[in-house]
Amino acid sequence: MQDQLNETVNALVQKGKGILAVDESAPTIAKRFKAIDVESTEENRRSYRSMILSTPDLGQFISGVILFEETLGQSTDDGTLIPELLTQQGIVPGIKVDKGKLPLANAPGDEITQGLDGLAQRLEGYKEQGARFAKWRDVYSISGTTPSKLAIETNAEVLARYAAICQEQGVVPIVEPEVLIDGDHSMERCAEITEVVLHEVFHALHRHHVVLEHMLLKPSMVVPGKELQKASPKQVAKQTIRIIRRTVPVAVPSINFLSGGQAPEEATANLNAMNQHGQQPWELTFSYGRALQQLALQAWKGDPDNLKSTQTALYKRAKLNGAARYGDYSLAMESED
Ligand code: 13P
Repeated sequence: MQDQLNETVNALVQKGKGILAVDESAPTIAKRFKAIDVESTEENRRSYRSMILSTPDLGQFISGVILFEETLGQSTDDGTLIPELLTQQGIVPGIKVDKGKLPLANAPGDEITQGLDGLAQRLEGYKEQGARFAKWRDVYSISGTTPSKLAIETNAEVLARYAAICQEQGVVPIVEPEVLIDGDHSMERCAEITEVVLHEVFHALHRHHVVLEHMLLKPSMVVPGKELQKASPKQVAKQTIRIIRRTVPVAVPSINFLSGGQAPEEATANLNAMNQHGQQPWELTFSYGRALQQLALQAWKGDPDNLKSTQTALYKRAKLNGAARYGDYSLAMESED
């Protein structure tokens, strides 16, 4: 089991690479498709996802892909199962295993992520279908009263239980506590909340005997609420690194940030700035959903004739984020082919 976990971590954590999240739940993918006037049918989801995952040489910059449960059992037009397609691309298949969130009782405005019941059995099935790692997302929204202490403690506990169950099944857990960007809170408040959340998460992981070497952390960056003016990549890098240095043990091999509603270029520039901010004990990389896919979705528009431009758009974002892994990205690269 330890060897299996090691092998998966090594395959996921590679220089110049990051993770692509294609694990939008049914309501979320419907929202993304609606923005380009496409109906979210099972066939449209299969067609879109198999098209982007077939992007030639995607494996140069992407080490793992997080899939939604439905996609794990779907095939490309030529009948190749999607997990098999990823393996052929040199990419590790992963799976989102949480079942979304609900309001947390007695904590107005806070939510709790569900999906622990039967998780060990589900993981056995996902493994048979080819998944080697998993993802679970907790969310924390910032307002005058949230997140409450209760929400911070309860979500951390659930996240740690998920991670422990995954490791017991030989599946590498991605631990994702997302402090939401929504609102008009300051960057300082986002920093304060992120620090408390990460402290609590690592306490819980310790209580549940999670092996830190065999997990990846997927946090949000420290940014001001989206109703305020954006901070510069330098400021984001400085504040984010200050908080993760205080809270994330060096035994964690890689920190794969989520994009959380940042524009594609913004997410790349912020990651780049972090990798220019001096030597850190972990790999600092990406596990982006929207920031990698947004331009590809806009190029696709539901038309199979747009295959080439869709794949080109995804490849370009993957490549630029690959450059940001080394701090080698520049705005000028946005206009290069
Ligand atoms: P975004 O990068 O769009 O935030 O998605 C990442 C993800 O997997 C959220 O759970």
